[in-house]
Amino acid sequence: MQAKYAIIGGTGVYEAGQVSDATTSTIHTPYGDATVTIGAYAGKQVAFMARHGAGHSTPPHKIRYRANIWALKELGVEQVLATAAVGSLQLACAPGDLVLVDDVIDMTKSRVNTFFDGEPVVHVDMSDPYCGRLRRGLMAAANNLGYSMHDHGVYVCTEGPRFETKAEIQMYGQLGASVVGMTSMPEVTLAKEAQLCYATVCMVTNYAAGLSNAPLTHHEVIETMQQNVRKIRDLFYNFISE
Ligand code: HPA
Repeated sequence: MQAKYAIIGGTGVYEAGQVSDATTSTIHTPYGDATVTIGAYAGKQVAFMARHGAGHSTPPHKIRYRANIWALKELGVEQVLATAAVGSLQLACAPGDLVLVDDVIDMTKSRVNTFFDGEPVVHVDMSDPYCGRLRRGLMAAANNLGYSMHDHGVYVCTEGPRFETKAEIQMYGQLGASVVGMTSMPEVTLAKEAQLCYATVCMVTNYAAGLSNAPLTHHEVIETMQQNVRKIRDLFYNFISE
């Protein structure tokens, strides 16, 4: 089984969507098992992986990031399209908006974040964590479909699973972050180490803590995702079919 493209579905994206002849299998890796569904779209093989497992059973800090990326590499994947539900740190970026992030700040604490845990010692370049070529292709797909998408954004990745405090969000804003989520790290680092082209389309599901008066709930995140998930799927499959 081989696939050139992969989709990693985050919160609210648990199925491959438009692919035909899909088969699901478990791939054994040195870092645990990964479940992958492979199907065809526009004559191309596409691998799909639900980051949190079917039905959102794995919290962000327990995801087997290394197993997931290893499995994709083993399938021959070259280009990885990831989705992420995020909170927005800017009023101009509202729930329902798409953000094609181009940089990331790592605030995680407990996660193993490398394949190079011993010899050889490798320090991977992270000047451009998200693949520029893939980002341009996704921006072109958004234009084809007439969807608006913010073409820059800095993702701050927190440890979770709790949401942030107001003071934390203020600090992250001062550090330059524009959206907040819990899963881009170490996923993007591992993709770099595995030499995969990797990009993330973020869906803003809420204003981050302190930007709105209402307390934040996971239910709100899921609901906004459900209302808008079709857009991300359209975007990915338009890109893949080009
Ligand atoms: N914070 C962290 N992760 C998130 C948020 C948030 O506000 N919204 C969706 N994922």
